[in-house]
Amino acid sequence: MEIARLDATLGAEIRGVDLSRPLDDDVFAAIERAWLEHAVLVFPDQRLSDDAHLAFTRRFGRLEQGIRRRGGRVGISRLSNVDAEGQVAPRTSLQARFLDGNTYWHSDSSYKRIGAKASILAARVTPSEGGETEFADMRAAYDALDADMQAWLADKVAVHSYEFSHAPFGGLEILNAEELGHLPPVEHAVVKVHPETGRRNLFVGRHASHILGEDPAESRALLARLTEEGAQPPRVFAHRWRPGDLVLWDNRCVLHRGRPWPADQPRVMIRTTVAGDALDNEWAAA
Ligand code: OGA
Ligand code: MN
Repeated sequence: MEIARLDATLGAEIRGVDLSRPLDDDVFAAIERAWLEHAVLVFPDQRLSDDAHLAFTRRFGRLEQGIRRRGGRVGISRLSNVDAEGQVAPRTSLQARFLDGNTYWHSDSSYKRIGAKASILAARVTPSEGGETEFADMRAAYDALDADMQAWLADKVAVHSYEFSHAPFGGLEILNAEELGHLPPVEHAVVKVHPETGRRNLFVGRHASHILGEDPAESRALLARLTEEGAQPPRVFAHRWRPGDLVLWDNRCVLHRGRPWPADQPRVMIRTTVAGDALDNEWAAA
């Protein structure tokens, strides 16, 4: 197995390992170590089946349930602009509008009481241009803040809200009242200590609405600025997808966003999510 750093403070490309086969414990341990260090791992040309993708995902922990909590296979989500008839969904459709939300920097499921640990995204159908996924190293973003800002943020708690981040993208239309009832606003420390590495990072992104106890509008603007300024070179890299590529990232310290692509072209991605490790995580599948 070869591990090659990418040209940013995060990210590495892994070659010489076949994720479609059960991994020996020592190989998995090496992957996990590299993941904790680099925060994003790119595995080119893996072409995994859904079953193999799920099996690799389970090595990292329990699967996270989706927001609908119904239908489909628990654990696999399709991020696709292709509709049930096989046509590319129009820009104005709910399906396409919901995907647009992913073009803003975020950490998956940070609107849940316990956010996602890892996400594993694989490309099945890719557009001829655009459609990259970008990743930002929020450990390095925290380190780059001046000492006064680090001190001021040290005890700050942000409210993260599904309604806040998803209402503009049809998020209230795709869920029923009971499902929305499972997604009340939640609180997360703005400066998060990584549970495995102990490194601090700036935990912000599109789901973060405002800071508790601060002026809502001012703190919303500050969170947006921290996200934008954090997600700058050399702390960012873009992955240009080819069918079969698989990327694994650590939602506990990385923000990501998708880039646009020509609206008349199909893009089909398969994603699994590893639930946060807390034993009482209500979003973890049994
Ligand atoms: C995701 C996501 C962006 C993309 O899978 O969680 O935000 O580029 N994807 O598809
Ligand atoms: Mn995402």
